[in-house]
Amino acid sequence: MRLVVVGCGYVGLVSGACFAELGHEVVCVDTDVGRIKGLKAGMVPIFEPGLAQMIGRTVAAGRLRFAAELPDLDEAVDAAFIAVGTPPSPDGHGADLRHVYAVAEAMAGRAVRRLLVVTKSTVPVGTGDMIEAIIRARRPDLELDVASNPEFLREGSALHDFMKPDRIVLGSGSPEAIATLQAIYAPITQFGVPVLSTGRKGAELIKYAANAFLAVKITFINEIADLCESVGTDIDDVADGIGLDRRIGRAFLEAGPGYGGSCFPKDTAALIATAQDWAVNLRLVETTIASNDARKRSLARRVAVAMGGSVNGKRIAVLGLTFKPNTDDMRDAPSIALVAALQRAGATLKVYDPEGMPQARSMLSNVEFAVNAYDCAENADCVVVMTDWDEFSTLDYDKLANLVRMRLVVDLRNKLDKDRLRVAGFTVASIGRPAQGPAVLAPQPASKAASDGPGRSPRLRAVNGSAPGHLPAAQEVARPDAIAIP
Ligand SMILES: NC(=O)c1ccc[n+]([C@@H]2O[C@H](COP(=O)([O-])OP(=O)(O)OC[C@H]3O[C@@H](n4cnc5c(N)ncnc54)[C@H](O)[C@@H]3O)[C@@H](O)[C@H]2O)c1
Repeated sequence: MRLVVVGCGYVGLVSGACFAELGHEVVCVDTDVGRIKGLKAGMVPIFEPGLAQMIGRTVAAGRLRFAAELPDLDEAVDAAFIAVGTPPSPDGHGADLRHVYAVAEAMAGRAVRRLLVVTKSTVPVGTGDMIEAIIRARRPDLELDVASNPEFLREGSALHDFMKPDRIVLGSGSPEAIATLQAIYAPITQFGVPVLSTGRKGAELIKYAANAFLAVKITFINEIADLCESVGTDIDDVADGIGLDRRIGRAFLEAGPGYGGSCFPKDTAALIATAQDWAVNLRLVETTIASNDARKRSLARRVAVAMGGSVNGKRIAVLGLTFKPNTDDMRDAPSIALVAALQRAGATLKVYDPEGMPQARSMLSNVEFAVNAYDCAENADCVVVMTDWDEFSTLDYDKLANLVRMRLVVDLRNKLDKDRLRVAGFTVASIGRPAQGPAVLAPQPASKAASDGPGRSPRLRAVNGSAPGHLPAAQEVARPDAIAIP
């Protein structure tokens, strides 16, 4: 089938490449001329695992091309997808739909006789009606359908999520539009992926409701994590214990620094705006937003607590800047608020991210940019792990211990092996667990030290060395809310 995808960002590029991989002929369009020029020259503007290879493959096969201008939307085009950004509105109320409406105008200008517009961008309920009104106003002659097909991919695993989704949601009152969309997705749905066909408004709302629910779930576990710290128990055990309940599920019960990224913050806010427009209260979502904002503001205080009460004059290494691993996306990343707050409190920052450095350079000021994790940690008083990139879990902690002055790690993702860190001499402060000091170590026989493999201290071993979970008790720390951070 022949498809046009408008918008070459995280969603548009992934969708276009995946559609082409499925065998369709796809033109991806973007008004960013530099981006299109780069794509034509083989440069992929975003980091998403596997995407560059898939684009290379499908371009070489002649099924994917790029254009800075919308082509004619003639009879040969089966569907034209809108995948442009819907950032927060400048007036603070809901989503900014200017890009979506600009595409609708452009499509009206390029349509020939018959047009199926499919909205993949996340748009508030009723946006499909507006798109239809815009196009009909300019082109009353057209045979027009406007459908909603929200996208649920996650950055970092976007190709997998697109090709093997939990479900595909199709929203339209037109049986012809639904049939065309079913045919487009047939190479995926033939393997049993559920397809939910509903009205356009239902599809639009499903996307916001899904994101809001996930934001609530993350925020819930973060609040329970705070309680774990106060009462002195471990959030991972609590998350496992409730996550094993099939009605709850373990996914999205990872305590951390609060949600960020290009979707949850803006989508929860846009959902509230829609509810307000319809005079409906969504108090749970409102509270979630407030709780998450407060959490992001409290991150610097956590670091200060771990450092004994103040970060003034301290050198802090931040590992990980993107809002999650396996993406270069820095939009609304919690690291931005953390870095700014630590700077206001008098700390000097050196930062490192495996893929996010280009975006970080344009978003963070007065920080030193490191070339790798060890360079970042050198001469730092403390290391803060902000994003759980795999490469941080496999660092040589003995080497790290020789670089960090206070031998303190604040792990805001709970992904580093705290027992291995403690054996290397670190104090570890994490989320939803009491902070723990270095393992108490004892000299070991020379023969044993010689047989130790890499990654273990050649000199020392934990005195209670059997199970890492039985390392010595936590050290007492002040509560985060007892420390003031401007
Ligand atoms: N990023 C995600 O993980 C994700 C997941 C699901 C849904 N979504 C939704 O998908 C939409 C796109 O998100 P994204 O992250 O891909 O955005 P993005 O900012 O990465 O990309 C948007 C692209 O659209 C282009 N664009 C803007 N106006 C245009 C126009 N008039 N004509 C052609 N191109 C234009 C921009 O130049 C940019 O390249 C949003 O509504 C978002 O909420 C995003």
